[in-house]
Amino acid sequence: MIVLGLESSAHTFGAGVVKNGRVLANEKSMYRIGSGGMIPAKVARFHAENARFVIEKALESSGLGFVDIEGIGYTKGPGLGPCLQVAQLYAKTMARRLKVGIAPVNHCVAHIEITRHTEGLRDPVMLYVSGGNSQILKLVETPYLHYRVIGETLDIGVGNMLDAFARKMGLDPAWGSSVERCADKGRYIKLPYNVKGMDFSFTGLLTKASGLIEHKESNDLCFSLQETSFSMLCEATERALMLTKSREIGLCGGVAQNKRLADMLRAVAEEHNARFGCAPNEFNADNGAMIAYVAEKMLASGFSIGPEGCDVKQRYRSNEARVFR
Ligand code: FE2
Repeated sequence: MIVLGLESSAHTFGAGVVKNGRVLANEKSMYRIGSGGMIPAKVARFHAENARFVIEKALESSGLGFVDIEGIGYTKGPGLGPCLQVAQLYAKTMARRLKVGIAPVNHCVAHIEITRHTEGLRDPVMLYVSGGNSQILKLVETPYLHYRVIGETLDIGVGNMLDAFARKMGLDPAWGSSVERCADKGRYIKLPYNVKGMDFSFTGLLTKASGLIEHKESNDLCFSLQETSFSMLCEATERALMLTKSREIGLCGGVAQNKRLADMLRAVAEEHNARFGCAPNEFNADNGAMIAYVAEKMLASGFSIGPEGCDVKQRYRSNEARVFR
């Protein structure tokens, strides 16, 4: 089956094409975030202006035409309302023209499922880390297949914490990658460490580190912020691994592009003789291919809606979405 996937939950408009589980194209355009942060209406306008070009580019790279598309997936949520509307509107309009089925996809589940696919993970404990989300998940079948959240942030996502700190430091607000660069040659400063079972929280850490900006070296602060927050994530994931007796750990989401976090979690997996998998960066960044991948599975299983059934859900939790084999 040939499926087009559209993603517009935050700063990226992505269009991907998948055929029988194989990614044929994965194109995107990304809104440049200035110091003012993301204003949803502005980002949505950017997506609306770029959507057509990105979709055409995806079709061109896949070597297929508009009429070859046999199904369409779009991100239903979670995300920013006005931004989500753009992919939904394109999915509806195109499905009407092509007379094909539509699959509404959960963005978090798409990151997890594409990682399971590219890394060949069967039943892993997944650490999903992005701007707005930080969760530890595992597949359960009660009564239908879905992800159960077995640990999560009690306040903000680790990505938003790193980004907020980068802004306070006057660094480039580039989703934590500026903190990663700055952390290169730092020394450790003790910062608040908050793990409660398999849950964790980041606001205390952010407040303390922000209060030290005037008094400590920026490299030391960035290094310590990463080491502390990533250790919290690794400790909770390790506990989840032992509790579930899984033999695999997966890492996905925007913050999974951070090499230090991947190295730390890989070390946890090795300690327990568990397999570790983290997808290539193009799938950890927001993208349309992961939406197409999940949509194809949904459509092939008969889970399809018409244009009139399309909606968006800003707070669409990962455990609410059904998973298809
Ligand atoms: Fe994402």
